[in-house]
Amino acid sequence: MRLLSAFVAFVLIGSPLFAADAPVDRDNKPIPAAAELAKLTGDAAKGQASFATLCGICHQVNGAGIDFGPNLSDIGSRKTKENMFESILDPNKVLEPGFESVLIKLESDETYMGMIAGETDSEVTIKAMGGVKTTVKKADIVSRTKQPMSLMPVGLYRALSTDDLVNIIEYLAAQKKK
Ligand code: HEC
Repeated sequence: MRLLSAFVAFVLIGSPLFAADAPVDRDNKPIPAAAELAKLTGDAAKGQASFATLCGICHQVNGAGIDFGPNLSDIGSRKTKENMFESILDPNKVLEPGFESVLIKLESDETYMGMIAGETDSEVTIKAMGGVKTTVKKADIVSRTKQPMSLMPVGLYRALSTDDLVNIIEYLAAQKKK
């Protein structure tokens, strides 16, 4: 019986009826899969403008923007367009090493969420959203938990048209190692 229900659950979860909704853009249009998007060509100049407002609050390109997530000045040399679309469509799929989300609680009840920006034998430096760094004493830490979710929010594409998305990736793909 238990086996049967496990099987039924498996079939249901695997079926399109229960599959996570395909992502839709700002205009409620379904967004094509990353591999399909990667075949499109966008307008890099328009992409730069959209990037500055929506992405620059967490990423730097060539010195502009806020230093929180990975620096994207050479992303065009490190990632394919398809990888980059995936980063936006499903930020939790691949987490950049070193940018994992950590929650730290102190004895004083203060909590910090962000990424580890530095660590010594006695101290840890946490970088929070906005790029602000705080150094705390390890002796004051009550708990330190890795979070399974990316610090990059899911659903950013809801603020963009599919064209905007393609433009942003065109702009990023042009950012090569200098
Ligand atoms: C709230 C902060 C935040 C915002 C806003 C944000 N990102 Fe990110 N992004 C991150 C963090 C943190 C990571 C690293 C963790 C991960 O891989 O998910 C990341 C990872 C990435 C990566 C993979 C980087 C690499 O080195 O491989 C790409 C590409 C990316 N973001 C693009 C974007 C684009 C494009 C936008 C705007 C549409 C955006 N991000 C908005 C925080 C953010």
